[in-house]
Amino acid sequence: LTAAAAAVALSVSAGAALAQCDDGEMVIKFSHVTNSDKHPKGIAASLLMDRVNEEMNGVACMEVYPNSTLYNDDQVLEAMLNGDVQFAAPSLSKFEQFTKVFRIFDLPFMFKNIEAVDAFQASETGQAMKESMTRRGLLGLQFWHNGMKQFSAKVPLLDPADAKGLKFRVQTSDVLVAQMEALGASPQPMAFSEVYGALQTGVVDGQENTWSNIYGQKFFEVQDGITETNHGVIDYLVVTSVDWWDSLDPAVRDQLATILAEVTEARNGESFAVNEQAKQAIIEAGGEVRQLTPEQRQAWVDAMKPVWSQFEGDVGAENIAAAQEINA
Ligand code: LMR
Repeated sequence: LTAAAAAVALSVSAGAALAQCDDGEMVIKFSHVTNSDKHPKGIAASLLMDRVNEEMNGVACMEVYPNSTLYNDDQVLEAMLNGDVQFAAPSLSKFEQFTKVFRIFDLPFMFKNIEAVDAFQASETGQAMKESMTRRGLLGLQFWHNGMKQFSAKVPLLDPADAKGLKFRVQTSDVLVAQMEALGASPQPMAFSEVYGALQTGVVDGQENTWSNIYGQKFFEVQDGITETNHGVIDYLVVTSVDWWDSLDPAVRDQLATILAEVTEARNGESFAVNEQAKQAIIEAGGEVRQLTPEQRQAWVDAMKPVWSQFEGDVGAENIAAAQEINA
């Protein structure tokens, strides 16, 4: 088996519907890390693939590789710059090597819900962020939603002091490292595909993620429970390479951009519901979901919000003010 054939075999076994590309069609590879059918990003990527392959038949053919079967998020952006993959949608926490503008999305309690995130992204400041990496060869095309993050650990988490001394997996983001340090916890940056094993074997004690990721990766099976903190957000940038995008025939590029915009609008409107379904599925599967009293939640806010001042220089006080105005 060649490496490529192995990747195809793996992704087929992981439930991906790989397209059959015809001779002469331009192949567009889209690599991502979640499942393809019960997750806001996975569903959106599958819909994008279906529409491209139907509406651009004979011209372009999209292949989606879900579940980290082609690249994980630490590899995919380099692979894109090398021309080995054309589309990806890493979370906004994963762009630290390229830009610091997305750090605002990692700051704890910055956005009260996904609608606030959407409104901020739609603003002039948010839209300009899509072009923050063009000099480094990457172009953001659209923001895709996941949802709000929840905490889980091997022990119940009700008071911030419960997290003290525990090891938490975080995405590779300095803001998230600082957030966990503010709790007196030990942050461990790690690829998404490794988290389940790390929780199971005790390499880490806890993690933070959205309902759809906690369900999709079965984290709840190897944790004491999940606390509904809604303390942060996981959202995505659909990204491509400037060189590849510029090389496209303008009509082809326009059609791709239009399909992507329509898929974005349709699926972003469903992201909250997809996460709610995942939360229900966790409960039905016997997972423990804990709620905080208003006083308990305020204690988490008080413990984590001081992190804002550490990153105000990177994200801009005016942007923090704009985000807070949207929340109001
Ligand atoms: C994570 O690494 O936890 C997330 O960014 C995974 C994802 O793509 O939702």
